[in-house]
Amino acid sequence: MCGIVGYIGNKNACDVILDGLNKLEYRGYDSSGIALNMNGKIEVHKYKGRIKNLIEKLAPLGCNSQLGIGHTRWATHGAPSDKNAHPHSNESGSIALVHNGIIENYVQLREWLIKEYNVNFKSETDTEVIVHLIDHFYEGDLLDAVYKSIAKMKGAYAIGVICSHEPDKIVAVRKDSPLIVGLGEDENIIASDIPALLKYTRKVYLINNDEVVLLTKEGVKIFNENREQVQRDIFHVTWDAEAAEKEGYEHFMLKEINEQPKGIDVTLNRRLDENGRISLDGIQITKEDLEKINKVYIVACGTAYHAGLVGKFAIEKFAQIPVDVDIASEFRYREPFIDENTLFIAISQSGETLDTLAALREAKRRGARVLTIVNVVGSSVARESDDVFYTWAGPEIAVASTKAYTTQLISMYLIALHMAVTKNVIKQDYYDLLISELKALPAKVEKILENTDTIQEIAKLNFEKQHAFFIGRGIDVAVALEASLKLKEISYINSFAIAAGELKHGTIALIEEGTFLTAIATQDHLFEKMLSNIQEVKARGAFVLGVAKEGNKQIEQQANKVIYIPDCIDEVTPILSVVPMQLLAYYMSVLRGCDVDKPKNLAKSVTVE
Ligand code: M6R
Repeated sequence: MCGIVGYIGNKNACDVILDGLNKLEYRGYDSSGIALNMNGKIEVHKYKGRIKNLIEKLAPLGCNSQLGIGHTRWATHGAPSDKNAHPHSNESGSIALVHNGIIENYVQLREWLIKEYNVNFKSETDTEVIVHLIDHFYEGDLLDAVYKSIAKMKGAYAIGVICSHEPDKIVAVRKDSPLIVGLGEDENIIASDIPALLKYTRKVYLINNDEVVLLTKEGVKIFNENREQVQRDIFHVTWDAEAAEKEGYEHFMLKEINEQPKGIDVTLNRRLDENGRISLDGIQITKEDLEKINKVYIVACGTAYHAGLVGKFAIEKFAQIPVDVDIASEFRYREPFIDENTLFIAISQSGETLDTLAALREAKRRGARVLTIVNVVGSSVARESDDVFYTWAGPEIAVASTKAYTTQLISMYLIALHMAVTKNVIKQDYYDLLISELKALPAKVEKILENTDTIQEIAKLNFEKQHAFFIGRGIDVAVALEASLKLKEISYINSFAIAAGELKHGTIALIEEGTFLTAIATQDHLFEKMLSNIQEVKARGAFVLGVAKEGNKQIEQQANKVIYIPDCIDEVTPILSVVPMQLLAYYMSVLRGCDVDKPKNLAKSVTVE
């Protein structure tokens, strides 16, 4: 999604903004641009393609300015192009604006501006109407013009605006798109996310919906929709700048895969006391609350949805509450049975996924209690929830979600166990066993990461294949789905996952000589059934990779290659079996020469529908 950076202060705004935009690359983009106040005039430079293009074009100009705004655009209205790239300007060039989000009524506004004021539009974007609106309302007070403009706008937006007539300020607005403000000494910064400003400050204001911010070099004022100034506590960023960098790994994805033992450990152990009792900071669900809950919905998108599938298994098995799992973009448009006895659980790494946010709002509107599992502190999803469980995975930069997923699984197990204990429906020895198995996971994931030779060898044997299949039974179906998504999104191999028992109902027709199929067979009670499924596809010529627990050597007689995960109880296998699948996708992507961290057509944070 789009990224915004704006700077006012004593440094060279151009350097700070370009640096910040580079840090926001992970959000996905197809063009970038910058507007700088240069000797009383606003200069705009914007180009299709990577930020590198912009930097190369700016280098000979030697831009030096103390005020500017920059943007990385991920096209929604109008193709990726120089003219559609942000910043956009009014006709005289005195105002420049960057925007993240979608203006839903831009067609009407555009027609009105053309008909009534003969405005000449230069781009196909929805964004351009905003700058012309501000121009229309401008009477020497940028803040006032912005307020009058947003009163006419419908949709989601974070915007940053500068004006050559008021070179001492940036005005910014947030509505349903992320925006934060970094506070420095004689300098202030706006950005879509923390990594963009971490080099300059750790002091941040989290901006709420419908708030308008006035930044000068000396200070920051936040106003609500009634133009009243509001006070905001400073949020201190505690994680290191290096946490958002690659630390010597070739790709962020590989770094993040390797960070999983730590992420799992932190997410788990911060919630356990020395006796293995769970204490859930941020979740205030009592025994009485739980007794009222007769239905749980888990709603999410993509990888987070796959974590939800495992969550259903955990809550139903441990806490004995029926659970439905749904894709957020589907949930929000149907008529789910929700009332005040429903618990709605949203899962999201970014906390800004528009479909998840919309589903959450719909559930809330219908009276559900909303609990969120989210990685980004202070994100929209977190702020709109009744209870928040943070995954402590740290910033995830690669578009392909890895460490967020395994920490989401840990979170689901903890929440399910907490519910089970609160409801008093779990036996102590079973609880103790589960806790000790969970605690053993970081070391077991470490063990998988220590030896990747087999995984690399399998990748070499199969990376040129056009298709891949993943099968499993029980909770292994969720892992198969996640493994398949991981592979397709970063290697562009046409990949498909299915419950193994469903193969013979259609999909087996696609199996032929050399077809690459991964059979995830970690569930002891389903192991024999999986061996039969492997035989079925082997008989039709498939190259079968089996994934099994260490002890289950029988699989070697059926599969062409086997990856073993350390021994554990069936309930927690998804956290282990997904790791070699992430690595397999990674190595296949590298061998195919793909852009691992920034796959084509994808964005890290999907803040549009
Ligand atoms: O930020 P979220 O967890 O809400 O994002 C949900 C999906 O967009 C995300 O998991 C996506 O599927 C990833 N690219 C998967 O690797």
